[in-house]
Amino acid sequence: MKFFVDTADVAEIRSLAELGMVDGVTTNPSLIAKSGRKIAEVIAEICDAVPGPVSAEVTATAFDGMMKEGRYLKAIAPNVAVKVPLTVDGLRACKALTGEGAMVNVTLCFSAAQALLAAKAGATFVSPFVGRLDDIGQDGMELIADIVEIYANYPALTTEVLVASVRHPIHVVQSAKLGADVATVPPAVLRALFHHPLTDKGLAAFLADWAKTGQSIL
Ligand code: G3P
Repeated sequence: MKFFVDTADVAEIRSLAELGMVDGVTTNPSLIAKSGRKIAEVIAEICDAVPGPVSAEVTATAFDGMMKEGRYLKAIAPNVAVKVPLTVDGLRACKALTGEGAMVNVTLCFSAAQALLAAKAGATFVSPFVGRLDDIGQDGMELIADIVEIYANYPALTTEVLVASVRHPIHVVQSAKLGADVATVPPAVLRALFHHPLTDKGLAAFLADWAKTGQSIL
């Protein structure tokens, strides 16, 4: 499973990329706003820092505007994936932009029916938001299971399932168990994946016992 990091914080991206854990980046208008930077500037810097797909979202809601913005974002760097919302105009723009050679990430997906349409529109990625479904008492991972099952029935569909709105490490593990292609993970959750208290405890015990030997390896 590929790990994308869900942030527009370039320092965080660079730090995690050094660990070899970043296969791509996703942003959205809220994450760009949080960065306090111009979208073209921050997306260009992220694309320079990470060779994998970097999602940059249009904010137009009508087809013509989505096409103008999508072409602008795509031109920032070869690894830009244009993000469009899962709406009628968004899927129309998805089909047109992929037809022009762009990578397209169809976002704000909340149903299997929507995911099927995104695949038919030729999306490179579809982003089902598991955390926001959990937030309203629905089962976000059940949606992932449904989408993975449906896509597996049609090998001709090339759209990758990009699990988004990830809230904790269990979402990451469950996504991998279900065979999702990608999970886009906030930096804090990505860092949390490394840690287990028994690892820390066991390492401390090893080092304490080693210290008693009076040896050093070098
Ligand atoms: O960036 C898309 C998605 O990951 C946003 O998640 O945390 O705003 O529900 P969130």
